Amino acid sequence: MTRVPLTLSINGEMHELLVAPHWTLLYVLRTVIGLSGAKENCLEAECGVCTVLLDGKAVNSCILLAEQCRGRSIVTIEGLGTSGQLHPLQEAFIRHGAVQCGYCIPGMILTAKSFLDETSGRVPTRDEIREAISGTLCRCTGYQKIIDAIAAVAAETKGGT
Ligand code: FES
Ligand code: FES
Repeated sequence: MTRVPLTLSINGEMHELLVAPHWTLLYVLRTVIGLSGAKENCLEAECGVCTVLLDGKAVNSCILLAEQCRGRSIVTIEGLGTSGQLHPLQEAFIRHGAVQCGYCIPGMILTAKSFLDETSGRVPTRDEIREAISGTLCRCTGYQKIIDAIAAVAAETKGGT
């Protein structure tokens, strides 16, 4: 199979790869690079568990070709926070008991980060938070504690994270 050189910026590190043209970003992250934070489920942009940040915006990595990410900045859940210091959203999810099985949580947190950065400078309403995370499905929590956690960070940071 033909493979082409591709350099990807992932969590601030440059990765020199050889990729097949049909490989998705999700496949490259999980199978080629070994970052398992973005999860695999529907592969049809329906569930949101594969969400990563592309130039700061939440995207479904299961429907993006790796090639489409050339020259752009990719952040996965492994790249959030700093060494030894969780991101405020990660801390809030723990504090509010918003994590059960955890499968949706990487996508949920990155979706929340993208949303709070978009609303930077003001505190979004709970309805806005609910709408923002509506593309990320959680089968465990009933969403209330997730919304509580995001709302708490929004109140602490006035949106931007
Ligand atoms: S696996 Fe990508 S949206 Fe479901
Ligand atoms: S915590 Fe289990 S799917 Fe959300």
